[in-house]
Amino acid sequence: MRRMEKAARSAARASYSPYSKFPVGAAILTKSGKIFTGCNVENASYGLCNCAERTAIFSATAAGEREIKAVLVYTPTQTPSSPCGACRQVINEFGPRAIVISVCDAPGRIETTLDVLLPAAFGPQNLL
Ligand code: THU
Repeated sequence: MRRMEKAARSAARASYSPYSKFPVGAAILTKSGKIFTGCNVENASYGLCNCAERTAIFSATAAGEREIKAVLVYTPTQTPSSPCGACRQVINEFGPRAIVISVCDAPGRIETTLDVLLPAAFGPQNLL
């Protein structure tokens, strides 16, 4: 988890967040043991902003990784932030039981699992 935290903190430095001025970094641990990172990428058309978690997950998917064991999110704040609803749904696709950790610039952290953050989730098993 220490490696993931370092990776997420470093990823936040690449954040493109001129509108919110809220940089976020994420690290994903996949089944193969690899770590993928992402940052939030905003857009002048605000609705197209992409969260750090989804950037990291899409990067892992593009590399052929389809199983998420853990997600770690870093925000440069005094309290930790949980992934947004859209990201919870995207995590569910590849890691319905993933560990989800949120860290910040203070000692406080959240350690939970995706099934706690997104109970009764809609997933691949619900489709015909
Ligand atoms: N954001 C993330 O990257 N991850 C989250 O879990 C919550 C929000 C980003 C989206 C936007 O660029 C900025 O933070 C403010 O909402």
